[in-house]
Amino acid sequence: MNQFFTVISELERSLHNIVQAQPFNIAIHDQPIESESLEKLINSVVSEGNKHRSPTWAAHMTAPISAASMFGQLVANLHNGNLLSASLYPVLATIEKQLLSWFSQLFHQPYGHFTCGSTYGNLDALWQAKKHSTTSRIVYASTAAHYSIAKACQILDLELRLIETNDHDQLIPSALEAACRTQTPLAIIATLGTSAAGVIDPIAACCDLAKRFNAWCHIDAAWGGALAILPEYQPLFALSGQADSICFDPHKGWQQPKPAGVLLYKKNIEPMLSFDTNYLESPPLNSLVGSHGGELFLALWFDLIINGVDALSSRFKQRLEQANAFSDMLADTLGFELYRSETGIVCFSLEPMSALNTLVDQGMISKANIAGKPVYRTVFCHHYVQAQTLMNEIAKNL
Ligand SMILES: Cc1ncc(COP(=O)(O)O)c(C=O)c1O
Repeated sequence: MNQFFTVISELERSLHNIVQAQPFNIAIHDQPIESESLEKLINSVVSEGNKHRSPTWAAHMTAPISAASMFGQLVANLHNGNLLSASLYPVLATIEKQLLSWFSQLFHQPYGHFTCGSTYGNLDALWQAKKHSTTSRIVYASTAAHYSIAKACQILDLELRLIETNDHDQLIPSALEAACRTQTPLAIIATLGTSAAGVIDPIAACCDLAKRFNAWCHIDAAWGGALAILPEYQPLFALSGQADSICFDPHKGWQQPKPAGVLLYKKNIEPMLSFDTNYLESPPLNSLVGSHGGELFLALWFDLIINGVDALSSRFKQRLEQANAFSDMLADTLGFELYRSETGIVCFSLEPMSALNTLVDQGMISKANIAGKPVYRTVFCHHYVQAQTLMNEIAKNL
């Protein structure tokens, strides 16, 4: 095996042993730091991140990274090229193209580019939507949509109108239709895996309504797009392929280092010809991404090449299995109101709702609102989270 990969694999293994955070009191000086202080400093930073390896870390969409992905990130840093000058980097450009074409097949969308995450993906998609319409400024998204949609609308001077959801936080199609009849939208946003509950909006209805009202349909699959790796979800992604654009973050559901996002779309984005970019060999795309290299995709690419696609899907299945096992345990315990999802997020409420606040403070679970109701939220973001261990912690606090 390559010497760099051996070193990274050993490093990844040794991370498990760094458990004790050191007191952090290191200042910036004009002179280099002493090696003993440097070691303490590194241990402080790394041990803080080690919480992601715990079987009870279910607070957020943050996962530990595989050795292969770390290796990919290192190779990206060693390369450090800029794909705005793609002809200078034929190897990196070929890998980028190959991985995008792999994503195109999974998501049934012919074109795409990598992004720094779905905040950028949503903004870029709505910018493309705005270019498409001259008549409407209105964007419809559910009350459970991610706040990056609101940010994008503010930046682009679009008007966001929120559509009502059902008791499980899914957009209600009849409410969307009524809104479309009242005022034709520029764009409709469907969320495939909401941030709080992890539920999937009615994709077919959103695509149909967008078609009927000649609006752009964008799917925010930042979290739930991870399901595309499972063959049984291909019909859902064939449906979402009818949308104009869809974004997904491998840095959430596929345990890749940040930033790793992808935006896929139906019609190719034109090159930017309105500005003098003669210093580049070919004009850049008229999209948000600027200078970028392998840091957006080499981690995932090496994870797929070194471990194989099957390893990614089996890690993903393991975490969904744990989420389902956890739901079943809650369902069997009296006093919990349960909110299941297909994407690995399980929410629940109980009386009194303050009972598990200690676990929230410890970063084991988080709090959210579903349809305006406060709930506890558990995110099965990686295969280390164990349903039984988490349940034991909950039981201790009841
Ligand atoms: C559904 C959804 N969309 C968009 C985003 C934004 O992603 P990022 O913070 O990686 O830019 C998130 C983040 O959690 C999300 O859950």
